[in-house]
This record gives sequence, C-alpha cells and structure tokens, in this order.
Amino acid sequence: MDTYNAILKKDEPHKINITKNISRIDLTWSSVIYQIKGKNVLDNLDGYALHGQVTAIMGSSGAGKTSLLNALSCRLEKGWQTKISGSIFANDIKLTNELFGKIAAYVMQQDILMETLTPRG
Ligand SMILES: Nc1ncnc2c1ncn2[C@@H]1O[C@H](COP(=O)(O)OP(=O)(O)OP(=O)(O)O)[C@@H](O)[C@H]1O
Ligand SMILES: [Mg+2]
Repeated sequence: MDTYNAILKKDEPHKINITKNISRIDLTWSSVIYQIKGKNVLDNLDGYALHGQVTAIMGSSGAGKTSLLNALSCRLEKGWQTKISGSIFANDIKLTNELFGKIAAYVMQQDILMETLTPRG
C-alpha cells in the first residue's frame, strides 16, 4: 500500500470521481482474508491494480488466484463455512457487486454455459 500511496501523491488524476470518469479506475485492496472451513485461502492480502496497466496474478495451482479474482469482483459469498473480511476500493469508493458490474467485466476460468448453446433475445 505504501507504493500505491506514493503513486497517488505523485499523480492526482487517480482521484477522479468514478461516476464522472470510469476510464481511469485503480483497484486497491487491503487485509483481504477468505477462509473456507477454517483454512485461510486468502491470507491477509494487500495489493493494487492500476488503470492503464496489465496486472498479472501468478502462482501455482491452488495458490488462490481464482479466489482472489472472485474476491476482487465481489463474487464471494459468506456462508456457514466461509468468512470474508478486508476492504476493496475502486479509486476511493468501496467496491460492491453493483459497482463492479458498472465498471468491469469478469471472464471466469471455466465456462458455465455450453458452447453449443445460442442466446435468444
Ligand atoms: N469451494 C471450496 N471449498 C474448499 N476449498 C476451496 C474451495 N475453493 C477453493 N478452495 C481451495 O482454495 C485454494 C485456492 O484455490 P483457487 O481455485 O483459488 O486456486 P488457483 O490459484 O486459482 O488454482 P488453479 O491454478 O488450479 O486455477 C485451494 O487450496 C483450493 O482447494
Ligand atoms: Mg484458478
């Protein structure tokens, strides 16, 4: 987060109002914990993905890449065996499922629709 704060100080346009300009959005997250059945799948993560840059998440199978993406896209749900905590911001606005739908799209790792099906309007 220190690096991100340093970048913010240098470059004020990052603070652009999200509703007025959705082309420059920085995603930041801190203290993200995702626990399944007592196991920390995401263990207190901080990070950022700045606008205009490609950010790659790398790690071995089972490292938690998909879980992190699910967390960042507000797709994780609290259940009786899961706990989620931490904060995720789009610029300076707390990210919600509704806001995510307005500013981003998420292509999942696995297709959930059959490729032979066609959409009907
Ligand atoms: N619904 C779940 N129930 C129990 N454990 C889970 C569940 N989802 C993820 N995990 C566990 O969380 C860890 C991270 O899984 P995740 O799918 O996020 O990893 P990944 O880095 O995306 O792996 P891959 O490269 O194989 O896609 C793994 O140990 C996995 O077994
Ligand atoms: Mg994955």
